[in-house]
Amino acid sequence: MLDFEDTPRQGTPTPRPGTSTHPNPAGESPDPFALDKAAEAAPEDETGESVTGLEQVELGGDRVSVDEKQIINCRADVNQLVPFKYTWAWEKYLNACANHWMPQEVNMAADIATWQDPNGLTDDERMILKRGFGFFSSSESLVANNLVLGIYKHLTNPECRQYLLRQAFEEAVHGHCFQYIVESLNLDEGEIFNMYRELPSVHNKAAWAMQFTQSLNDPDFTTGTPENDQKFLRDLIAFYVIFEGIWFYAGFVQFLSFGRRNKMTGTAEQIQYIMRDESMHLNFGIDVINQIKIENPHLWTESFQEEMRAKIDEAMHLEIESAHDTMPRGVLGLNASMFDEYMKFIANRRCSQIGLAELYPGAENPFPWMSEMMDLNKEKNFFETRVIEYQSGGALSWD
Ligand SMILES: [Fe+2]
Ligand SMILES: [Fe+2]
Repeated sequence: MLDFEDTPRQGTPTPRPGTSTHPNPAGESPDPFALDKAAEAAPEDETGESVTGLEQVELGGDRVSVDEKQIINCRADVNQLVPFKYTWAWEKYLNACANHWMPQEVNMAADIATWQDPNGLTDDERMILKRGFGFFSSSESLVANNLVLGIYKHLTNPECRQYLLRQAFEEAVHGHCFQYIVESLNLDEGEIFNMYRELPSVHNKAAWAMQFTQSLNDPDFTTGTPENDQKFLRDLIAFYVIFEGIWFYAGFVQFLSFGRRNKMTGTAEQIQYIMRDESMHLNFGIDVINQIKIENPHLWTESFQEEMRAKIDEAMHLEIESAHDTMPRGVLGLNASMFDEYMKFIANRRCSQIGLAELYPGAENPFPWMSEMMDLNKEKNFFETRVIEYQSGGALSWD
């Protein structure tokens, strides 16, 4: 994890798009608001240097040095994976590959029997499961689309892109997981996959998230101005910190509560794998956000921080509304007020991870068992189902 107090590594001052293919000379004071005009030339500046990696390849061009690499607005060749600058990104890529799994490896026989048994689950339990499937099934696609259509282009570092490619595949696996569950349980796929268009509490979260991906999907959008760089940072916070780092965790608690009671164990096992992946997505996002802050401190203004805290608070309330909607009554030892507290606890943690002041001082974790669920190696027989030990290195860092 990066320290906000770190100085930029390898002397990487604020980039000046359109003025040079190299970082600023040492000592040149950044004047971020002078960037606007120059950045209009992006993604290919007047020097013709490669930005997206899809421009013409220059014969005899320079080899990339570590010092030229920057996490955004980089003018160095993004097709040269090495030398690594951000080793944390490469390590996450390796760890993610060491944790490969596929949904169809998980046995759903017990879940099918439970679902088909009229007394296997209460109506409230069925509702909470179906609404969870509804939220996650479209959310996985929303996250994946934002990743490849929004984030990938603007994160101009090859080792980070290497991780993004792995993450994108994992989002595909997660989407596959919900398709597999829906098919196994013989649920109405139209009802589940359209829930974000039909059920207000699921719709409201998807609609809230969509506002942060639209500018990045605009073919004319480029980073390189303080305003647009902040838009990019805002999108990263919305998707990595809020969507994957806060909203998903409410769903994880709900699904895993079934597994703890030995119900829907195949579903819970897959959710446990998803949570392991998502924990790494979140940590990658946090590292990227903090690295952008280190290299571009002018973006992290007081007003931007307040705006981000307000967004997290807004998103928190959408999740609380959703918790009340999915759990109008207590179920599985959970109730909506416990979720209020848990969401506040998680939101505080996310704030501190990216250097924002906590929003809800004093919020505590009503689900301490969640931290045990994170440790697959230790708990691999927890659900008494077949669990493959994918991870051999034990190098995961859990959130
Ligand atoms: Fe995912
Ligand atoms: Fe994810």
